[in-house]
Amino acid sequence: MGYPVRWRVQSAVARWGVDSRKLETLQQLPRIGTWAKERGAADRPGFETREQMYAHLVDTHLDGPVDYLEFGVHKGKSIREWSRLVAHPDARFVGFDSFEGLPEHWEQVVRRVDADVFDVGGQAPQVDDPRVSFEVGWFQDTLPPFLDKFEPQGQLVVHCDADIYSSTLFVLTQCDRILTPGSIVVFDEFASVLNEFSALADYCSAYRRDYDVLAHASYFYGHLAIRMR
Ligand SMILES: C[S@@+](CC[C@H](N)C(=O)[O-])C[C@H]1O[C@@H](n2cnc3c(N)ncnc32)[C@H](O)[C@@H]1O
Repeated sequence: MGYPVRWRVQSAVARWGVDSRKLETLQQLPRIGTWAKERGAADRPGFETREQMYAHLVDTHLDGPVDYLEFGVHKGKSIREWSRLVAHPDARFVGFDSFEGLPEHWEQVVRRVDADVFDVGGQAPQVDDPRVSFEVGWFQDTLPPFLDKFEPQGQLVVHCDADIYSSTLFVLTQCDRILTPGSIVVFDEFASVLNEFSALADYCSAYRRDYDVLAHASYFYGHLAIRMR
């Protein structure tokens, strides 16, 4: 008498070593469609590129001496673009990064981004704008002491571009105190359902926070901007 089919299927799946993270991503992807319907995201302004979305945010939703905190800088592409778009002389742009890459591999459905892909030898980029500064190190080491001293001066923009769940959740929960109503949060990889998407959902649920969708860019909410309520 053979073993029950259920056991055979279970052991076959275990033997094949099916990547559970990939399966979980596929299983969770429909959450983005449900979220979009519930939030009316499709009715919000949508752009082809993230740069167009940034320009829209600056023109339509920001005023005065903005504080822009960017988590995940790498070679400085997005922080340079934001400092170019925001002309106010008293605006402040602070970029946080280890400059040694991600703290862990970033698993996606069709590929894996190795942790060291973003390693630039611990060096912050050269930016010729005195309003721009960098906090070099792991967010877990640099953000708490930064926040101890930080006095918000105007409207706050928090740009989450750290790709992975743990980093994004850490940033959002640490910044909860300064994410006052009206603050804008931008996500660079929102459609990464187990990462930035889940970090926002878990932060909002644990801290009883809510938001409105302001704009999105790229395919299926790849980049997203929200305003905290
Ligand atoms: C996709 S890159 C940022 C890209 C950049 N914003 C741009 O537009 O060119 C992600 C960055 O997040 C950084 N990062 C992720 N988690 C981190 C953490 N916990 N502490 C410090 N840096 C982190 C990595 O070092 C990496 O440079």
